[in-house]
Order: sequence, then C-alpha cells, then structure tokens
Amino acid sequence: MRKMVVLVMVLLGFFVLGDVRAMAENLSQAELDKINPLWQESAHALAEINCSSCHQDAQTKAFIAQPTYESCQSCHEQEVETFLLGKHGIRLGEGMTPLTPGMAHLPMKASATGKQMNCNTCHDVHSVNTLQASVDSCLSCHNDRHSLNYKQSKHAQLFAAQGSLPRPTAESVTCATCHLPRQERGSTVFVNHNNTFTLLPRDRMVKEVCMNCHGMEYSYNSIFDDELVEADFSEPPTQQLESLDMIRALKQKRK
Ligand code: HEC
Ligand code: HEC
Ligand code: HEC
Ligand code: HEC
Ligand code: HEC
Ligand code: HEC
Repeated sequence: MRKMVVLVMVLLGFFVLGDVRAMAENLSQAELDKINPLWQESAHALAEINCSSCHQDAQTKAFIAQPTYESCQSCHEQEVETFLLGKHGIRLGEGMTPLTPGMAHLPMKASATGKQMNCNTCHDVHSVNTLQASVDSCLSCHNDRHSLNYKQSKHAQLFAAQGSLPRPTAESVTCATCHLPRQERGSTVFVNHNNTFTLLPRDRMVKEVCMNCHGMEYSYNSIFDDELVEADFSEPPTQQLESLDMIRALKQKRK
C-alpha cells in the first residue's frame, strides 16, 4: 500500500515538475518563484490544470508567453462566450484591440489608463482568485461615484462578513453579483460575464438579481431612484413608484 502511495506521488511529481521544467527553459527563476506559489494554491492546481494547459498550443505544442482568452475557451466556453458579448469583451470579439480605460467616457482611475481588458485583467490567472475579482479588481479601473460608494453599503458589509471563503457566498452582494450575475444553465451554475446584460432594460436586474433577496416593490423602488443608484444602495429606498400603485389599483378593480 505504502509503495503504491510513493509510486503515485513520484509519478505526480514527475508530471507536475516536468511541466514546470519545460516552462523553466523559457522563464527566469525569479518569475517562477513568484508564480509557482500562486498556482499551487489555486483551484487549477487542485484540478491538475498545469502551466502547459494555458502556455502551450494544443496542436503545435509551441510555447505561448502571453495567453489570451483563447487559452481558456476549451474549458470555460460559457464564460468566454458571455464575456465577448458585453462592453468589456466586445472589442476582442470583433477582432479589435482590447478595451482600455483610456477609451472610456465613464470616470476611470488615472493609473489604469492603458490597462488592457482580458480574462487576466480581473483574475490573477495564476491564483484565479474570485474574491479579489469581485470588487477590488473593478475598483482598480472604475472611479465613478456609484462604484466608489459601494464600500459604504450594507451589501459591502455583507461581503466583508462572508467573503473569506474561496468563492463569494450566495448571501453576499459584490459588484459582480449585480453586473456579472450567476445563472443556471442545465444543472450547473455559471457566472454570466456579459457586463451589459443586467443594465438594459434596467429592470432586468430586478428579476435576475434583487428579487433573489428582496421583494419586488422594494427592488423597483430602489432601482428606479437615480440618487440611490448613485449611492450604490447605501440607504433604504424612499420613493413609492406610481406605476406600482397603479398595478395595485388595477388588481383591486379586478377583484
Ligand atoms: C489558467 C491559465 C494559466 C496557467 C495554468 C498558467 N498561466 Fe502563466 N499566464 C497566463 C496568462 C493568461 C498570462 C498573462 C499574459 C499577459 O500578461 O498578457 C500568464 C503570464 C505568465 C507569465 C508572464 C509574467 C506574468 O506574471 O504575467 C509567466 C512567467 C507565467 N505566466 C508562468 C507560468 C507558470 C510557471 C505556470 C505554472 C506554474 C503558469 N504560468 C500557469 C495563463 C496561465
Ligand atoms: C484545461 C482546462 C482549463 C483551462 C485551459 C482553464 N481552466 Fe479555469 N478551471 C478549470 C477547472 C477544471 C476548474 C475547477 C473546477 C471548476 O470550478 O469548474 C477551473 C476553475 C477556474 C476558476 C474558478 C476558481 C475558483 O476558485 O473557483 C477561474 C476563475 C478560472 N478557472 C479561470 C480561468 C482562466 C481565466 C483561464 C484562461 C486564462 C482558465 N481558467 C483556463 C479548467 C481550466
Ligand atoms: C470584469 C472582471 C472579470 C473578467 C474580465 C473576467 N472575469 Fe471571470 N469572474 C469574475 C468574477 C468577479 C467571478 C466570480 C463571481 C462570483 O462568484 O459571483 C468570476 C468567475 C469566473 C469563473 C468561475 C465561475 C464559473 O463561471 O464557473 C470562471 C471559470 C471565470 N470567471 C473565467 C473567466 C474567463 C475565461 C474570462 C475571460 C473570457 C474571465 N473570467 C474574465 C470577473 C471577471
Ligand atoms: C481594466 C479596467 C476595468 C476593470 C478591471 C473593470 N472594468 Fe468595467 N469597464 C471598463 C471600461 C473601460 C468600460 C467602458 C466604459 C465606457 O465606455 O465609458 C467598462 C464598463 C463597465 C460597465 C458598463 C457596461 C455598459 O454596457 O455600459 C459596467 C457595468 C462595468 N464596467 C462593471 C465592472 C465590474 C463589475 C467590474 C469588476 C468585476 C469591472 N467592470 C472591471 C474597465 C474596467
Ligand atoms: C446591488 C446591485 C449593484 C451593485 C452591488 C453594484 N452596482 Fe453598479 N449598477 C447597478 C445599477 C442598478 C446601475 C444602473 C444601471 C442604469 O443606469 O441603467 C449600475 C451602474 C453601474 C455602472 C455604470 C453603467 C453606465 O453605463 O452608466 C458601472 C460602471 C457600475 N455600475 C459598476 C459597479 C462597480 C464597479 C460596483 C462595485 C464597486 C458596482 N457597480 C456595484 C447595480 C449595482
Ligand atoms: C444576496 C442577497 C441580496 C441581493 C441579490 C441584493 N440585496 Fe440588497 N440587501 C441585502 C441585505 C441582506 C441587505 C441588508 C438588509 C438590512 O440590513 O436591513 C440589503 C440592503 C439593501 C438596501 C438598503 C440599504 C440600507 O442602507 O438600508 C437597498 C436599497 C438594497 N439592498 C437594494 C438592492 C437592489 C436594488 C438589489 C438589486 C440590484 C439588491 N439590493 C440585491 C441582500 C441582497
């Protein structure tokens, strides 16, 4: 039994180290020392997704120094497909240069002007950490009042209280909860990476997101209040939408 375990470990070591050694021919030791520990702790390492899974062309076996979204596509088809449909990814989908904050009309952090949008922009591709991707990555570029006000909201407190797991919990509300919502497709849940999807029409977010936790009236009264959106929902709603009163009146009449 013990011999089996040792044999398995030697074989595993051979494959993993062999993989790193093949990479090392193209890399400096300093780069390897930085990246190896990030990868070793990642969901990818657990699932035996190695350096070569992304850094080697499947057909030609050629080394790829800077993989793009195409290297993720074979395993994460839905994420790539949805990313390419939204504002973040559509330029890449059209074969143009990547989106950068320099092209934006919304306010952006000056330090991010030249930062190129790709899968590795929000995810550190070697740790594939989703917690950091859910808020901190967004705020490395976005600098409008709505985005900056998030940290003052009850939603942010929920995330801070629950966020220490490998993935944001279903009870916390991050930027991604509203803008990259989790969706069911068949029996699996995936993150819809189309960052335009929940914006138009505006009440799509009510059904897709808010009503998982809030009632319909509360959600509508919040989302159609421009000041409350700008405050990133850091106060309770105060307005009473007329159309909701009208729906209620209509229901009364029908009774
Ligand atoms: C999930 C896919 C994936 C895996 C697995 C992966 N890489 Fe990367 N790697 C990338 C992407 C994407 C980039 C970013 C390219 C860019 O900056 O445009 C990158 C960049 C790099 C760079 C350039 C420096 C940097 O930090 O940006 C080095 C060096 C590197 N990877 C080494 C490795 C090594 C060694 C391993 C295995 C321990 C590994 N990678 C595993 C996708 C991956
Ligand atoms: C050879 C297949 C393969 C490739 C290529 C690949 N991944 Fe993955 N990825 C996986 C598997 C398997 C998991 C873990 C199981 C799961 O959550 O689906 C995973 C998990 C993830 C996660 C979730 C991490 C977590 O903590 O739950 C992210 C984010 C991710 N991958 C991003 C990427 C990105 C970005 C690329 C391209 C640069 C990429 N992956 C390339 C197979 C792959
Ligand atoms: C705008 C930032 C951003 C970009 C760009 C981005 N991601 Fe993500 N991704 C996230 C966040 C945030 C989560 C976690 C959201 C959650 O769990 O609620 C996530 C989750 C994931 C997951 C795990 C959940 C799942 O759907 O199975 C995978 C895999 C993934 N991303 C792959 C990719 C790939 C591939 C690309 C490039 C096509 C990409 N991501 C680009 C922010 C981003
Ligand atoms: C590399 C910088 C960068 C990062 C990181 C980033 N974004 Fe963006 N985002 C942009 C740019 C640039 C635009 C386009 C703004 C414009 O056209 O004025 C944009 C647009 C948007 C839009 C508007 C989409 C539309 O159709 O109008 C939303 C919503 C958004 N981002 C949310 C997020 C969220 C949530 C995250 C983190 C999960 C995030 N972004 C991460 C740069 C970034
Ligand atoms: C509770 C849900 C929710 C959370 C959390 C949230 N947003 Fe939003 N976001 C919205 C709504 C609603 C709008 C307004 C949509 C509209 O104007 O039609 C919006 C608008 C935006 C826009 C502007 C889109 C445009 O074209 O004007 C950006 C950029 C954005 N959010 C980024 C972020 C970032 C970054 C975070 C986290 C720091 C965040 N949001 C947190 C719901 C949310
Ligand atoms: C995962 C569950 C969840 C989702 C999704 C969610 N919320 Fe919340 N929201 C909460 C919780 C929990 C609170 C805190 C309630 C409390 O403390 O009384 C809250 C608080 C609020 C508040 C009050 C803030 C305050 O300071 O009192 C507003 C407004 C709000 N949410 C609007 C929205 C809108 C609009 C959406 C959709 C765009 C949304 N929420 C999505 C769970 C959620």
